[in-house]
Amino acid sequence: MIVGGSVVVPGDKSLTHRALMFAALARGTSRIEGALTSLDARSTARVLRQLGVEVGPLRPGAVVTVRGRGALRRPAVRLHCGNSGTTTRLLLGLLAAHPFRAVLTGDASLRRRPMRRVTVPLTRMGARFEEHGGRDGLPLAVRGGPLAPLEYELPVSSAQIKSALLLAGVAGKVRVSLREPHGRSRDHTERMLQAFGYQVRDRAGWLDFEPTGSLVPFEFRVPGDPSSAAFLVGAAALAEQGTIRVEAVGVNPTRVGFVHVLRRMGVPIVVENEHERQGEPVGDLVASPASLRATEVEPAEVPALIDEIPLLAVVASRAKGTTVFREVGELRVKESDRLGLLAANLRAVGADAEVSGDDLHVGGGNGAPRGYVRTDGDHRLAMAFAVLGTVPGAKIRIDDLRCADVSFPGFPDALRSVSRHR
Ligand code: S3P
Repeated sequence: MIVGGSVVVPGDKSLTHRALMFAALARGTSRIEGALTSLDARSTARVLRQLGVEVGPLRPGAVVTVRGRGALRRPAVRLHCGNSGTTTRLLLGLLAAHPFRAVLTGDASLRRRPMRRVTVPLTRMGARFEEHGGRDGLPLAVRGGPLAPLEYELPVSSAQIKSALLLAGVAGKVRVSLREPHGRSRDHTERMLQAFGYQVRDRAGWLDFEPTGSLVPFEFRVPGDPSSAAFLVGAAALAEQGTIRVEAVGVNPTRVGFVHVLRRMGVPIVVENEHERQGEPVGDLVASPASLRATEVEPAEVPALIDEIPLLAVVASRAKGTTVFREVGELRVKESDRLGLLAANLRAVGADAEVSGDDLHVGGGNGAPRGYVRTDGDHRLAMAFAVLGTVPGAKIRIDDLRCADVSFPGFPDALRSVSRHR
């Protein structure tokens, strides 16, 4: 396959969720340009509306207006968070500081995902939770109220846990100190808080938040999502010829671990037109094919590429040698058992892959990948295997590629637009 052209990917998912939530807490009208309009972003918009916030429609290319009232209101219905773990966990942090009861639920995948990782520290701050049948998952009721300050070591490096606790600190106006075990997870929440005048500082590995700022209405332009761009960059890495450019993508260092790993595997990737936009680094990613070699991904690298492991693993299946992803057990609790399914699907298309403890080993080869891929509705698995399906002679059938809409609406068209078969 030959790749070529310039593409723009939809807005960053993490930044869209956060911008919507911050706007919801501010009193007045905020405007968000370039917001992601995917199913996950719509889940955040929908539940915020159910909490009394006026959120305009999320349409591609349109500016989203959000009218917040300074606080959320008691919902009349259960809050359905769809497939979105970020919506659920960040919202639990916000609701922990609001004096009413709310019930959160989601689709079958989300209901299985662990929530105690946020409810345990939020309980220490003073919020109360009722689990359904004593199970760690959704549905879950939260009853918020006045909160106490928190000092807490996270069990896993996770931006969702960290952000939930920081948002509880913001809404409850209390101090929060956190520590992540391995590597720093994405820091978008911290950057946004600093822009609103909150003190967020690093103190010998601890992140210290002080409720010094205040949320005011704002205008924000969301850059392209590097996690979506990664799939197109991966298609370039696997191609025979050509160059692609993904324009105006977020290149925050806590998000672009995949760029470093692909470069180690031999892929020429350049960041051009780099600039800072509202506290976030943005640039174009320019990538070309390469003769690929295996690499080892260390535990400290994992937080900055947690969502890109499916893509990196399919690229690794075309490299010379065996690539090892160390300590990636967190993938078991993503939108699917992403670790088990990733290995099983790689094997299903003829590649070598094995899970050993919490490590994933992927052997490289150049036989044409052929077989049937079962995604369990996991958008990132579907997109990764669609990318693998672009290699010469590939015949990959994917049970559900429509689930790409969770994070990357228009993915099949974007992939086609950069790919030309000889
Ligand atoms: C996200 C954090 C990550 C990531 C998810 C989005 C966020 O989850 O997998 O897609 O926006 O904070 P964890 O922080 O739980 O690893």
